[in-house]
Amino acid sequence: MADPRIALKDVSYHFGKGALQKQILFDIDTTIEAGEIVILTGPSGSGKTTLLTLIGALRSAQKGSVKVLGQELNNAKEKELIMVRRQIGYIFQSHNLMDSLTISQNVQMALQLDGIKGKESQERISGVLERVGLGDHLNKYPSGLSGGQKQRAGIARALVNRPRVILADEPTASLDKQSGRDVVELIQDLAREDGAAVVLVTHDNRILDVADRILHLEDGRIKSLSEAVSEDTSRMLNLLEKHDPNSASYLASFSFALARVAYADNEVTESERIEMRRILHEVANLAPAEVEFIMELSMMQKRAISSGLNPQGMQADRAEHFVESLYAIANADGNVSPEELHEIKTIAAEFGLTDPNSP
Ligand SMILES: Nc1ncnc2c1ncn2[C@@H]1O[C@H](COP(=O)(O)OP(=O)(O)O)[C@@H](O)[C@H]1O
Ligand SMILES: [Mg+2]
Repeated sequence: MADPRIALKDVSYHFGKGALQKQILFDIDTTIEAGEIVILTGPSGSGKTTLLTLIGALRSAQKGSVKVLGQELNNAKEKELIMVRRQIGYIFQSHNLMDSLTISQNVQMALQLDGIKGKESQERISGVLERVGLGDHLNKYPSGLSGGQKQRAGIARALVNRPRVILADEPTASLDKQSGRDVVELIQDLAREDGAAVVLVTHDNRILDVADRILHLEDGRIKSLSEAVSEDTSRMLNLLEKHDPNSASYLASFSFALARVAYADNEVTESERIEMRRILHEVANLAPAEVEFIMELSMMQKRAISSGLNPQGMQADRAEHFVESLYAIANADGNVSPEELHEIKTIAAEFGLTDPNSP
């Protein structure tokens, strides 16, 4: 198999010196292959941009190894860094177009750096602008384009050299929902066609589905996505509970009831999902991402209950841990009440487990 396009090993990074030194990234390890689209998420300040600039050869890590296109960037010579940068397409939150140049001239600037001129240059420029849907706007100035169009022009400029690595930092941040979606799908298409490796930074949950893989960064460390999602979900549900306890419990049972019906034939179709989304949105007046969370959660719960746990299939140590965990929860406040004990016995019986603490 070919070398990965990007290989990070034990990468750490800090800003500042001495007492003012602040570590931003801790032991980052990952590899990204050609054609792979990786989305880097995480709260603001978690180190996403810093990591992206390390991969982009725009700064260098004090510790660990950053290899891009086979070149070790750590302690590399300026000439080697320039060679790597030339093969990277950078897409920023703001499009960084020159206002005094037309769209076509803006794209041309990137090509000139690569020494491509004349007819080939013109063909490449109109080709790439065609691909991003700006074929009719070649001679317009940035001021004559919408936000989404400017962002697409920025993408065309980043991609005209057919980079083997594409780095995008919050490319949808300044766009409305639909243009944001269009821009990301465009990056995805172009990456697939050219076989480029893409690292895209975003905290826009609505575009996570274009990723082949999601890297979640928190306080400078890579964290498992399921951990991050469950924290997010419980934070959201707690918030809801706090502000509106009645509707929270109603919503929980209502959503669960919908999931039960959707799952009754053991398959949830896309149209059933759409309908659930619509109803939940109407009832709860929640944001789409929140509806999505609650819906997925209900379905997970339904799936867990309907598939059940196969008692014969449960390994002894897992069964033991299962029951122990139930006791741990009951005992968390210092004593196991009769109600809690009763619930544990009921659950153990449902799962066909023997309760070791039974008389
Ligand atoms: N040039 C800098 N000097 C010192 N600290 C910085 C600098 N750039 C960013 N930081 C700090 O590094 C942390 C991570 O920043 P950044 O990588 O921009 O996060 P993100 O892109 O995830 O929002 C933040 O705490 C930020 O304040
Ligand atoms: Mg950032």
